[in-house]
Amino acid sequence: MRPARADFPPYRWLALYYDRLLAGHVPWMDNARKHVLGKFIDKVESACDLGCGTGTLAIEFARKGIKAYGVDLSPAMCRLARAKAREAGVKVRIVRADMRGFELPEPVDLLTCQADALNHVPSKAGLVQVARAASGALRPGGHFYFDVNTRLAFKECWTHTWWLEEPGVVVAMRNGNDYAHDCAWSDIEWFIQEGQLWRRHHERVEEVCWSGAEIRRALRGAGFDRIRAWDVGRFIKDHPIVRPGHRTFYLARKRKGL
Ligand SMILES: C[S@@+](CC[C@H](N)C(=O)[O-])C[C@H]1O[C@@H](n2cnc3c(N)ncnc32)[C@H](O)[C@@H]1O
Repeated sequence: MRPARADFPPYRWLALYYDRLLAGHVPWMDNARKHVLGKFIDKVESACDLGCGTGTLAIEFARKGIKAYGVDLSPAMCRLARAKAREAGVKVRIVRADMRGFELPEPVDLLTCQADALNHVPSKAGLVQVARAASGALRPGGHFYFDVNTRLAFKECWTHTWWLEEPGVVVAMRNGNDYAHDCAWSDIEWFIQEGQLWRRHHERVEEVCWSGAEIRRALRGAGFDRIRAWDVGRFIKDHPIVRPGHRTFYLARKRKGL
């Protein structure tokens, strides 16, 4: 049974430690994105990363000379992304907004939404809203790249308790899923060192997932025509957690005539 949705904003503590704790996933995610986007990235003049987190990808776009935007719902993530862009000496406009209804000052060539940020929308119906908002933010012929956790990932990964440890921070992620209703959650217990003592914080992240058919239907309904998908199995080898079938990468093109 799915517990009640949390009433506090997620990605507060996770924001602070995100880059340190999730660094292990960066190389294979980067490989996947580079493979899917290929040489097409060289033609991109403007791009926006949805659910941009600490801004890593938006900053990478800006470093390539691409006019870069980032959208994220978490105030803590937006603050960190702005600070990281300043530190990197690049111009990235970070917009605090919900990916289900964001607006950019101009249509962009490329939208990205990686590391299962899309799975974070609070209900399955959110996919149609994101697809419409994405279509509205792209120029005709522009592309939407994203990856999603699948039902199999919820069934096989969102069941255990994971333990992450770094100097000064210990995290226990107690995961659960309601496989029949395509949702999963993680109750995250933080232990953060303050001098000789450790302070405990709680945070909760919830995800929903969709079948490939649901994703294609939502994208087509929002005006995307050429939709391609890649399984994560192409990009990982002997990963301790992620297995083939756990994640799918999509590239969808907004119809040229739209
Ligand atoms: C797993 S993190 C991924 C961060 C980043 N994409 C990366 O590759 O590291 C998910 C991000 O999505 C953001 N997020 C969750 N729900 C959102 C929503 N409805 N609209 C915009 N951002 C959202 C969270 O605040 C968080 O920064």
